[in-house]
Amino acid sequence: YIYKEATDASVAVAKEIATLIKEKQAENKQCILGLATGSTPLGVYKELVRMHKEEGLSFQNVVSFNLDEYFPMDPSSSHSYHHFMHKNLFDHIDILPENIHIPAGNIPLDQVHDFCMKYEEKIKNAGGIDIQLLGIGRTGHIGFNEPGARSNSRTRIIVLDTLTRRDAANSFNGIRNVPQRAITMGVSTIMNAKKVILVALGENKASIIKKAVEGNVTPLLPASFLQNHPEAKFILDSSAASEL
Ligand code: GLP
Repeated sequence: YIYKEATDASVAVAKEIATLIKEKQAENKQCILGLATGSTPLGVYKELVRMHKEEGLSFQNVVSFNLDEYFPMDPSSSHSYHHFMHKNLFDHIDILPENIHIPAGNIPLDQVHDFCMKYEEKIKNAGGIDIQLLGIGRTGHIGFNEPGARSNSRTRIIVLDTLTRRDAANSFNGIRNVPQRAITMGVSTIMNAKKVILVALGENKASIIKKAVEGNVTPLLPASFLQNHPEAKFILDSSAASEL
């Protein structure tokens, strides 16, 4: 789906999410959202906050699972995805704090495996993810599933690609300060979501989008796995779609 302007793409995604939240409300059910960070989903979150404030959209039936978090990373750090999610979404809506799940970047390394297994279990016990929102990294990563990630991978700790760390360097005041690792949902965790919406905006995503959509399905470009998902959409602005 190609929108001329990034704002229109973001509004369309927010509408789809809001519609599902309301449908679930009408059925007295929880709506399980998989959420993403990065600059790309900011417009979606802004629109969801607007809908909450101006249209009374309630998030009380929403249970959220974030894709990833740097490791090590204190949740209180301004670099953490915890901080990002609260600042850009959770602090402005009525989601119940106990329904928010974000991988913990501040646990000892020897507890990470257990933590990841429990994260998977929580997603399963919630009934699985209804809509998974995704951005895409210039390596083709989804979440932090970097090139080489297997199709059967689940939530785990990974080593970040140099390009990913370079892209994050600005916000960390230099690549030296960007963590080497992260905890991320796996490719299989993402593929198990009932619907997947990948958003890509801007010219610097054009070449990776072309490869992800038109190239071979390969672990060397994890976003390409979405070609095999029955309900995955790519929502693009005209710049991100310019090489298709
Ligand atoms: C990070 C996140 C990804 C995100 C990517 C792209 O690496 N872990 O989930 O998709 O950045 O970020 P941006 O949207 O800022 O281009």
